[in-house]
Amino acid sequence: MAKSKSVFFCKNCGYQSSQWLGKCPSCNEWNSFEEEIIDRGEPAKGKSNFAQIIQSSPKKIEDISLVEIPRIHSGFSELDNVLGGGIVAGSITLLGGEPGIGKSTLLLQVAIQIQHKRILYISGEESETQLKMRADRLFPDMKPEECYVLTETNTQEIFNHIKNIQPQIVIIDSIQTLQSNLLDSAAGSISQIKECAAEFQHYAKTSAVPVFLIGHITKDGSLAGPKILEHIVDTVLQFEGDQHYGYRIVRCIKNRFGSTSELGIFEMRNNGLREVLNPSEILIADRDEDFSGSAIAAVLEGTRNMMIEIQALVSSAVYGTPQRSATGYDTRRLNMLLAVLEKRCHFKLGAKDVFLNIAGGISVDDPAINLAIVAAILSSATDIPLDIKTCFAGEMGLNGEIRPVSRIEQRIAEADKLGFKRMFLSKYNLKGFTKENLKIQLIPITKVEEIYHQLFPVD
Ligand code: TYD
Ligand code: MG
Repeated sequence: MAKSKSVFFCKNCGYQSSQWLGKCPSCNEWNSFEEEIIDRGEPAKGKSNFAQIIQSSPKKIEDISLVEIPRIHSGFSELDNVLGGGIVAGSITLLGGEPGIGKSTLLLQVAIQIQHKRILYISGEESETQLKMRADRLFPDMKPEECYVLTETNTQEIFNHIKNIQPQIVIIDSIQTLQSNLLDSAAGSISQIKECAAEFQHYAKTSAVPVFLIGHITKDGSLAGPKILEHIVDTVLQFEGDQHYGYRIVRCIKNRFGSTSELGIFEMRNNGLREVLNPSEILIADRDEDFSGSAIAAVLEGTRNMMIEIQALVSSAVYGTPQRSATGYDTRRLNMLLAVLEKRCHFKLGAKDVFLNIAGGISVDDPAINLAIVAAILSSATDIPLDIKTCFAGEMGLNGEIRPVSRIEQRIAEADKLGFKRMFLSKYNLKGFTKENLKIQLIPITKVEEIYHQLFPVD
């Protein structure tokens, strides 16, 4: 008889304990432990999955020959960039994101787009007909030669099929639906997720086949799966975006084969995802008239340049407590900027409602956006529109000082290329900067008061 053993896992971080605990010693979450029965019966039968396919043996590190493995192009240059230049052989990549964001769509497109490779798309979520319907919608005229789909959730069965088909890329939608015979617990439980991911990791490493895992994250991040998986996989991609906007961002959180600062932008259309190669075009709204409260920031996300439109609305508060609300920006940081403006520029913003919106539904972390936010707020408060050909890049400190930002040359070059006439930036950013062949006028500032006088000169 197989001996069954029960263990307790923290739902939040995956910490394992032999007994139930009220508070997780690892992540300090309360009441997060759940019992799971782990049946490690008959290991020989289970472990035979792919151990039969490849035998591993220890090797001296100097004996390992380093062949430059060519990367496989996914068909999307945006995705290749995020991965650090393409899909690496034997890599295991996790694509996480909220339900409905487009994870299945992205990887099905990749599966169909890649030419001359045998691809196995394993779905535990959709039926074959659903997949076919989606594929027809995405590529009505394309007849992919070697794209196989499999609707199966048992990993032992999956590895049998893998042995027969010998795919060159494997995509799994999703890791939460997989189940291994080695464990008794239900699909989606922490022990199953860990085990299945470990099996595929072993497969990827021993067979040199790249594996993609799709993982769901709920809004509050309560599903532990992807968090635990981050340690197992080589690359973690996060698919983000707002359900109501068409734009989607693939962000890299961890990458063993490239930088994590890259980001890819896609647009969800009714025939699938389309890559957005020039984000500035979509993030700056077309307009014929000038409106107050709008300013353009030269932002860097990773190594990507983006010119983003910031909109602010400042109006008198009708109810007692003024409202502050920001989409795509941290409200606490907005409050800080308002406090600095109040103190330094003597703007009575304390009694005003302030709303802030970043175009395209994207959220920005780059502190260089501060200066444009301040300009947008000042423009709305004074009801004077800013020139559309003016942009901003600068961080604001608590004393109202404008601090330099990283990679200013790159931001200036992008603004100049897109035809901006003036750019406001920190004085310290211009130290040692040589302005060659640039048409753009650079306006250095040191304090927030100056920007107010520069933008709205009193005549
Ligand atoms: P899906 O890839 O199923 O999301 P996930 O796998 O992340 O749960 O796609 C979700 C949404 O995308 C769905 O609400 C419909 C929309 N969609 C389009 O707008 N156009 C399309 O061509 C496709 C296939 C989906
Ligand atoms: Mg899906």
